[in-house]
Amino acid sequence: MANVVVVGSQWGDEGKGKIVDWLSERADVVVRFQGGHNAGHTLVVDGKVYKLSLLPSGVVRQGKLSIIGNGVVFDPHAFVAEVAKLKAQGVGVTPERLKIAENTALILSLHRELDGFREDAATNSGTKIGTTRRGIGPAYEDKVGRRAVRVMDLADLETLPLKVDRLLTHHNALRRGLGHAEVTHDAIMRELISVADEILPYMDRVWKILDDKRRAGERILFEGAQGTLLDIDHGTYPFVTSSNTVAGQAAAGSGVGPGAIGYVLGITKAYTTRVGEGPFPTEQKNEIGEFLGTRGHEFGVVTGRKRRCGWFDAVLVRQAVAVNGIKGIALTKLDVLDGLDEIKVCTGYRLDGEAIDYLPASQGAQGRVEPVYETLEGWKGTTAGARSWNDLPAQAVKYVRHIEELIGAPVALLSTSPERDDTILVTDPFQD
Ligand code: IMP
Repeated sequence: MANVVVVGSQWGDEGKGKIVDWLSERADVVVRFQGGHNAGHTLVVDGKVYKLSLLPSGVVRQGKLSIIGNGVVFDPHAFVAEVAKLKAQGVGVTPERLKIAENTALILSLHRELDGFREDAATNSGTKIGTTRRGIGPAYEDKVGRRAVRVMDLADLETLPLKVDRLLTHHNALRRGLGHAEVTHDAIMRELISVADEILPYMDRVWKILDDKRRAGERILFEGAQGTLLDIDHGTYPFVTSSNTVAGQAAAGSGVGPGAIGYVLGITKAYTTRVGEGPFPTEQKNEIGEFLGTRGHEFGVVTGRKRRCGWFDAVLVRQAVAVNGIKGIALTKLDVLDGLDEIKVCTGYRLDGEAIDYLPASQGAQGRVEPVYETLEGWKGTTAGARSWNDLPAQAVKYVRHIEELIGAPVALLSTSPERDDTILVTDPFQD
C-alpha cells in the first residue's frame, strides 16, 4: 500500500478537486503541503458543491484527518471565512479533524496589499505576473527571508512584538518605495491578536502526527495545489507561483521523509489551460480556444478570470512526468473534446529553426518555441458520463492511448464528468 501524492501536471486547474475527493474517500489523512488560498478546488459530493481554497479536501468527509503542512502559507482571515462558509453548508470543521502545523508562515493583510501594489504598478505584461493577489508571493518571500510570523508565534505574546518590528522594517521600506502609506506596529499586533484564539486550537506538531499515522499504516493523501508549470523552479519562471508545486515538496512541506511518498498521480487535462500571464505554446486565440473555454467552463474558481485555452501539449506533460516522478495520470475533461472533427496534439517544439523535445528553461526561449502538431481524427459519440472503456468511442480510446505513449505514463483514472462516479478506474493509486 502506498501513500499518494496528487499534483497538477500542467498550469493548474486540471480538475484536481474531483480526483482528490475520490481518493480522500479511500484515505485516512489528507495533507496540503504548499500554496495557500490561491488554490481553488471544486468538489461535488452527493450533488452538493463545495469550493475550497485553503482547506484540504478531506474536510468535507467525516472521519478523515485534514492537515495544513508547514509548506503552506496560511491566511488566518481566509481560514476563518472558509470555515464559516463550510459551516453554513452543514460541514463542521473542528480542531479534532483539522491540524495546522505550528511552523506554518502566515499571510497577513500587508502581504495581500503588497501583492496588489506590485501587480498594479506592473504596467505591461513583461513584468505583470497576473497573480491571484492573495499575498502568496510576498508571504513566501518573508518566510525565506527569515522574518515571517508563524502560527506558533501567535502563542508567544512576549516575542511577537519583536517579530512584527522586524517584519515592518522590511515592509515599510517597500511600501515607501512604491508610494504607499506605512503600516503601524499596533495595526499588525491588533490583526494578529484578533485571530489568535481562532487559530491556536488547531495548531499541532504535524511532523509527529504524520510519523505516527505512517507507522500505524494509515493511508496518507498529499494534495498538491496549482501545477508543475507553475512551480517556482520547474515552471515558466517568472510567471509562476512562489512555491514548489512538484511532488518532492510533499515531503519537505509536511515533515515526512521522501520514502513516505509512494504513488505520484499527475492530474492531466485532455487539453491545456492557464490563467495569468506567461508563455503558452499551444494557446489557441481563436474559435477553438473559445470552444474549449465555453465547453470546459474555464473560469478560475478563486478569481473568476477567464482561462486561456489550447491543445494538449505532450512536451509539457512529459516533462512533468519526469520532474514529479509521476507513475500514472488521472485524465480529466476528455468530454470537452467530444464532437470535434479533428484534434491536435503538440508532440515537440521548434526553437529558432531547431527541433527540440523539451521546454527550455529561459523565459526568452519559452516565448519563442513553436509547437509541432500531430492531427488526430475526432469522435462523433460522447465520452461524457462513461464508466467503462467500452462506453468510449474507439477514436477517443485511440486519443487516450496516444497521449499515454507521448508522455510516457499510463492512465490510472479517467474522469468523464464532474460527478464522482463518472470515473473509469484502471489502477487504484493506494493499492499500487
Ligand atoms: P500567485 O500564486 O497568486 O502568486 O499567482 C502566480 C501565478 O500562479 C498566476 O499566474 C496565477 O494565475 C497562478 N495560479 C495561482 N494559483 C493557481 C491555481 O490554483 N490554479 C491556476 N493558476 C494558479
